[in-house]
Amino acid sequence: MVANGGIDIYNGSDIASLMTVEKPMALVNDNYLKLKAGYLFPEIGRRVAKFAAENPGAKIIRMGIGDVTEPLPAACREAMHIAVDEMGQRETFRGYGPEQGFDFLRNAIATNDFQSRGANVAADEIFVSDGSKCDTGNILDIFGPNNVVAVTDPVYPVYVDTNVMAGRTGESDESGRYAGLVYLPVTEANNFTPDLPSGKVDLLYLCYPNNPTGTVATRDTLKKFVDYARANDTIIFFDAAYEAYITDPSIPHSIYEIEGSRDVAIEFRSFSKTAGFTGTRCAFTVVPKGLKGKTATGESVELHGLWNRRHSTKFNGVSYVVQRGAEAVYSPAGREQVRALIEFYLQNAAILCQGLRDAGQTVYGGTNAPYVWLKTPGGMTSWQFFDHLLSKANVVGTPGSGFGASGEGYFRLSAFNSRANVEEAVSRIKQLLK
Ligand code: MLT
Repeated sequence: MVANGGIDIYNGSDIASLMTVEKPMALVNDNYLKLKAGYLFPEIGRRVAKFAAENPGAKIIRMGIGDVTEPLPAACREAMHIAVDEMGQRETFRGYGPEQGFDFLRNAIATNDFQSRGANVAADEIFVSDGSKCDTGNILDIFGPNNVVAVTDPVYPVYVDTNVMAGRTGESDESGRYAGLVYLPVTEANNFTPDLPSGKVDLLYLCYPNNPTGTVATRDTLKKFVDYARANDTIIFFDAAYEAYITDPSIPHSIYEIEGSRDVAIEFRSFSKTAGFTGTRCAFTVVPKGLKGKTATGESVELHGLWNRRHSTKFNGVSYVVQRGAEAVYSPAGREQVRALIEFYLQNAAILCQGLRDAGQTVYGGTNAPYVWLKTPGGMTSWQFFDHLLSKANVVGTPGSGFGASGEGYFRLSAFNSRANVEEAVSRIKQLLK
């Protein structure tokens, strides 16, 4: 018998008594060990917290994570108050709702967000959820491990990290790029419009208006990607979380405004940035009926059914109260209040862009999106500029390289803030960069 940290083996024989078996421990998902140190925003939070602790007098202005600052629209709050009162009465109390969302919200979304723009989306193709971040990660559950995945670079890090977690990549190189992923650079050199993948990819993420660059995709660009997807049996994951910020009437709000897209695209939408729901949580995903993938043996399978199965097994729906709040976004008062919110943040973006240009900087985005994408001054790397701005102006932004190798040399500022903070940040940045 031995007792040296392994499992004791005792069967009476001398040889067996020398054997040690390692304690059977639960195996981890090794893919997580490939992930770079931390998710970008917690890493920024860590650095800012350290700076704040060392400089307690610093009045830090946070323009890093794109989190809304303005209160919920009155129409949403009023609808939620009524719903809370309903929950307090036996006659109107509700327990579990439909996992896919209540019909009142799915109908409002289908009519107002899609059919009113000529996009053919039915209410039962809409799956209400607690967030687009969750949905863009969770959607991978219904796809096999060997799909080839393409992302733009820079990109919202969730698309990359969730594929790493799912085992669709190898290790990352020193620039942060993972083996096995196809990267489509979006930089000044191609006017922030990605080229089509040079070969076939199976899954392709597009985010427009774009996080982080704040740029948009024209109808022609989206058509080019839809045509590519149709020719290559590619599924496009279209993240339209920022569509409410589109001011240019020629820019599509939904990929379903593009002919042929229902056969190739899943779209993600959110109330977070539209109506200030980042803390309230409500979003939705559209999976058109008829959109198909293939089994390993080549049979076609409807993705709508698979997603419905996944969603209703692992999710119990967004709360009734919150869905009533989201429905109010489409009421006449809600529309007006949401429009005012969006205009407020877009005005912040305009102030940021103008201030940075006055300081001689090169700036992109900010007119159809709440993000301003700035070239780092003086050839600084993205993280060098992050530290410079934090230590000298006490302003926090997001280093472009945190969104991908092609984001190196760029920096993102979020327009989600109070007017006073935006004006103060602009004045400090101008002072620093003059
Ligand atoms: C961002 O700053 O990129 C967003 O807040 C991230 C998100 O919406 O999850």
